[in-house]
Amino acid sequence: MCAIARIISGKPNVEDSPIDVNLRPRRFEDFIGQDRIKENLRIAIQAAKGRGEALDHVILYGPPGLGKTTLAHIIAAEMGVGIKITSGPAIERSGDLAAILTNLKPHDVLFIDEIHRMSRTVEETLYPAMEDSALDIIIGKGPGARSLRLNLPPFTLIGATTRFAMLSAPLRDRFGSVYRLDFYENTDVEQILKRSSQILKIKVDPEGLKEIARRSRGTPRVANRLLKRVRDYAQVKAGGNATKDVAVAALCQLEVDPIGLDEIDHRVLSTIIEKFGGGPVGLETIAASISEEADTIMDVYEPYLLQLGFLERTPRGRVATRQAYQHLGLPYKEKPPQPTLF
Ligand SMILES: Nc1ncnc2c1ncn2[C@@H]1O[C@H](COP(=O)(O)OP(=O)(O)OP(=O)(O)O)[C@@H](O)[C@H]1O
Ligand SMILES: [Mg+2]
Repeated sequence: MCAIARIISGKPNVEDSPIDVNLRPRRFEDFIGQDRIKENLRIAIQAAKGRGEALDHVILYGPPGLGKTTLAHIIAAEMGVGIKITSGPAIERSGDLAAILTNLKPHDVLFIDEIHRMSRTVEETLYPAMEDSALDIIIGKGPGARSLRLNLPPFTLIGATTRFAMLSAPLRDRFGSVYRLDFYENTDVEQILKRSSQILKIKVDPEGLKEIARRSRGTPRVANRLLKRVRDYAQVKAGGNATKDVAVAALCQLEVDPIGLDEIDHRVLSTIIEKFGGGPVGLETIAASISEEADTIMDVYEPYLLQLGFLERTPRGRVATRQAYQHLGLPYKEKPPQPTLF
């Protein structure tokens, strides 16, 4: 079950690292889809370059595997500046952040992944840095302590997060632009797969690419991972030729259903339907019933089920929709309307 869970998870796994690097688009031309974000970024970059300034701070948010890290690299490349990469949990103390900031060159990009996991004190050090390109350092302790202001080179902070709501309001307000990455259209995923298959020199029929795209949950990382699995299958069972039928057989073998749902998605839905009468039921309760972590369900499984319209979020918990019943082949009973309190 674990192997299957990893296949459709947008989160990176060990196996991804080498392919991620090869397949990661380096410039906007190669970055497929997310047209609105690309256009807005292009304009902002051109304007900042024209003025000879650093790009305003950017936040990128959305489910795992949609291209946040990739975009951060592209922004730095298009700006023609360097990029330093770190993550919220990796910056343990304010001093760590100060060391990173003072080592930046003018206009460099500082990319903080999982920015919602940064500690409060580190976050507060970041405020003057973002606003005034300055760092307030406290020297000494007790009554004799003094605060010293250190000027920093102007820089661009790019924060990435899967949980925008977890960012504090003061942090959110300090970003000049906020971009939400959406799941990709199937046609975009097909193009991503076409590009990846050319880079990896994999022969796949256009129909085969379509099949992989349909099951990729609108997520490039999942698409690339499934492509690799289809390549393995084709190599071992079909002389290296990934036709549509070979792709379907490979994906069935991985127990990814025709719309990209795996066993855990099915368990989430069937638990809500069979154990809790279709909901509403709290996320923690669902997680406990299927022995998964609530965070994993929230980050990896739920966004796509919501996007498909299989789940609804209500103030009293998650509800399975008619489409979810239909997909699982279960009879749907119209619920009586909820009593309203006057
Ligand atoms: N628009 C795109 N076009 C082509 N390939 C893409 C695109 N977006 C992402 N990819 C591919 O998907 C992989 C995952 O993307 P990336 O690492 O940027 O996701 P992420 O949003 O940062 O995920 P996480 O939240 O897990 O950090 C990349 O290595 C790249 O190969
Ligand atoms: Mg990333």
